[in-house]
Amino acid sequence: SRQWRGVIREYADRLDVTDATPVVTLGEGGTPLLPAPALSRRTGADVWVKFEGMNPTGSFKDRGMTMAVTKAVEGGAKVVICASTGNTSASAAAYATHAGITAAVLVPEGKIAMGKLSQAIAHDAQLLQVQGNFDDCLDIARDLAANYPVHLVNSVNNDRIEGQKTAAFEVVEVLGDAPDFHFIPVGNAGNYTAYTRGYREDIAAGNATRMPRMFGFQASGSAPIVRGEPVRDPDTIASAIRIGNPASWELALQARDETDGYFGAIDDDKILEAQRILSAEVGIFVEPASAISVAGLLERSAAGVVPAGARVVLTVTGHGLKDPQWALRTADGSDVQPTVVPVDTKQVAQVLGLTS
Ligand code: F0G
Repeated sequence: SRQWRGVIREYADRLDVTDATPVVTLGEGGTPLLPAPALSRRTGADVWVKFEGMNPTGSFKDRGMTMAVTKAVEGGAKVVICASTGNTSASAAAYATHAGITAAVLVPEGKIAMGKLSQAIAHDAQLLQVQGNFDDCLDIARDLAANYPVHLVNSVNNDRIEGQKTAAFEVVEVLGDAPDFHFIPVGNAGNYTAYTRGYREDIAAGNATRMPRMFGFQASGSAPIVRGEPVRDPDTIASAIRIGNPASWELALQARDETDGYFGAIDDDKILEAQRILSAEVGIFVEPASAISVAGLLERSAAGVVPAGARVVLTVTGHGLKDPQWALRTADGSDVQPTVVPVDTKQVAQVLGLTS
C-alpha cells in the first residue's frame, strides 16, 4: 500500500506538467465513489455518489487549485487572487500558504458560510468582503489580474478546469466505464465543463466507451442558464451557487449539446429536503449547494427521464460541515432542540424507547 499523491502526480501523463514542475499538493483527489442504496431504491436507478467533501479543504475546488497554484508558482507568481462564494477562497488560501505565496480573496459581504470564512482566515488569506455579489467580485478579480501583478485562480483559468477533470477519470476507473447520467450542481459551470472534458478524454484514450448525459442544476432563485439571461440579484440558501452570470456559460451550453445534457432549476425547499435524504438515509453530509444533485435526480426521475437500472453518478461538491446550520433547521423555520435528560440511566433508556 502507498499514500495517494494528489491529482497532479497521479495523473501527470494527462496534465500539462513536467518532471521540473514544482507540484503544490495537499493530497487532493482520490475521493470515495459510494453506492447510495436509498437513492437507488427511490429511483430504480443504480446510483453512486462522488463525495468531493472528502478533499483536503472539504470541496472539489482542491482538484483545480493544486493545478492553478502549481502553475502560478511555476510562472513566478507571488500573489494569487480569486472571487468566491466561499469554497474557492478556502482552497486558494490553503494551497497558496502551502506554497509560501499570498492568496487575496474577494467575497460578497456577509454572504458566505461561516466554515468557509474561517478556513480562509485560518490559512492566512488577505480576505476582503466586497459590498456586492459574487459576480461583482469576479469582475474586480479579473480587472486586478489584467492590470496588477496578481495571478487569477478562478475557474476562468483553464488550469482549474484541467485539475477538476480528474474527477471524471476516477469515476471511470471505479465503474469501469462512464455512467449513463451524471448529475452536478452548477454555479459558474466550471465543474460541469471539467467533467465533460474528463469523460471526453477518457473516451479518446479508450478508457470509456460512452459520454454520460450531463445534467446540471441551479437554484431557482439563481438560475441564469435555465432562464437564458443573467440574474441581477441571485438569491438562494445554497450560497455556494448564488451566481447570476456564470463565467463558463458558453462552454456549458456546448457541453450540454455534446452530451445530450440538461440544465434544470430546483427550489430551496427541495434542496434542503434532498440534503436531509442524503444525510439521514445514505450517511453522507453535504452542504446545500451539493444536495442539488440529489434533488435534481429525484426531480428528473419523477419526470420519467431516468430509466430503471440506469447507472447514475451524482457529484456532491462540498462537505456539510462547511455550512452546518441548515441541518438543524426544521420545516417551520425553528432549530432542532435536542432533548435534555437527567444523569439517570433508567430515564435515558425510557426516553430512547429501550426496554430491558
Ligand atoms: N458546489 C459548491 C459546493 C461550490 O462551492 C460551487 C462553486 C459549485 C458547486 C459550483 O461549481 O462554479 O464550477 O459551477 N463555488 C465557487 C466558489 C463559485 O467561489 O467557491 P461551478
